[in-house]
Amino acid sequence: MTLAPASSADHPPAATVAVIVVAAGSGTRLGRPEPKAFVPLLDRTLLEWALDGVFALPEPAQVVLVVPADQADTTRTLADRTAGAAAGYVTVVAGGATRQESVAAGLAVLGGDVETVLVHDAARCLTPPAQLARVLEETRDSGAGVIPGLPVSDTIKRRDASGEVRATVDRSELVAVQTPQGFPRAGLAAAYAQAAADGIEYTDDAALFAAAGGSVRVVDGDARAFKITTPWDLHRAEQLVGPVPAAPAAPRTGVGVDVHAFDPAEPLWLAGLHWPGEVGLSGHSDGDAVAHAICDALLSAAGLGDIGGLFGTADPALEGAHGDVFLRRTAELLRTRGFAIGNVAVQVLSNRPKVGPRRAEAEAVLSGALGAPVSVAATTTDGLGFPGEGRGLTAIATALVLPAGAPVPPK
Ligand code: CTP
Ligand code: MG
Repeated sequence: MTLAPASSADHPPAATVAVIVVAAGSGTRLGRPEPKAFVPLLDRTLLEWALDGVFALPEPAQVVLVVPADQADTTRTLADRTAGAAAGYVTVVAGGATRQESVAAGLAVLGGDVETVLVHDAARCLTPPAQLARVLEETRDSGAGVIPGLPVSDTIKRRDASGEVRATVDRSELVAVQTPQGFPRAGLAAAYAQAAADGIEYTDDAALFAAAGGSVRVVDGDARAFKITTPWDLHRAEQLVGPVPAAPAAPRTGVGVDVHAFDPAEPLWLAGLHWPGEVGLSGHSDGDAVAHAICDALLSAAGLGDIGGLFGTADPALEGAHGDVFLRRTAELLRTRGFAIGNVAVQVLSNRPKVGPRRAEAEAVLSGALGAPVSVAATTTDGLGFPGEGRGLTAIATALVLPAGAPVPPK
């Protein structure tokens, strides 16, 4: 079953490379209620971490996300958030009962121009972008199947059913295999058709490709491309991406200020709302100074820096992003660091728009995004300064955050 594209683009632009990200497994060994790819690692799902590497490829690629059918809507939302300008290249498709069926579902929706395919496990979510680029380059250069592998460092023994050691295996011949695995598209599609006809399940795509007569080469893997399988693996990933600090001991306050210039060419987005007929604000995202000031107040209260440090000021994934994206991600980050949000107060300094008539609506949207009460006020500045002259708008926010017990991860 093909689901609608993840973005508003009806036809993804042509790409000669595709990355099939398999994320349809349930993660039985991880033992969490949500499917493994949707389990959070700090403030984002494993799938989002995996997509960071995919979207860092140096050329446009069709990105096929193979997910559980009931996660399609969530996937569209997070793909749009992570992909930014590349969202038009994302296709979301429902997976199958086995990994092999999930890859087959991804292969079925490849664009007509795709010549090279990388198949990647979402569960290897910290795979460095250089590994994807290395596999892609070698696949193109060699025309063969290409797999990343690591030398085996443990001594390997062969034993019989009774536990008696029969031999020490020469480990210099062995590699531990990771993803992405790269293949010429036509060869992989033919190999998958043959596997389906034969009714054989293979342990990885390279084995399936080799069974159909394809040759496979190994390139260097990377320890960071390990697969998150058990709770221990998730804990290790948490250690790698950032330390989890001790829970805060007392309530803390924070302050945030944001200023944007008016830009008549932009629609106005403010306090999470669209304001039809009003002059918009300039900015890399949608310029929602209220949302940004609130994020800064929350981050300041939690001692987690500021919005520029957390999201970057030029992240292509956040081009045009609306305020609720920043608010939800900030609230989630605070939650994972052991904070609950007490309340937020924000004041707008500007002649326009008139906030009063839509105050309740704005408060509802902002409170919904944070899961905590937000109050919104506004004032003019008596004609003084740039807000009074109508050149721009200032938002000032304060936040109170509270200890919420132990930080959420590690589980
Ligand atoms: N996968 C998939 N479709 C399946 C099974 C697995 O897309 N029917 C994906 C997983 O989402 C994962 C990758 O294949 O990204 C590797 O599989 P694995 O680590 O075994 O994940 P799970 O099958 O989800 O975990 P478990 O075996 O513990 O249930
Ligand atoms: Mg599995």
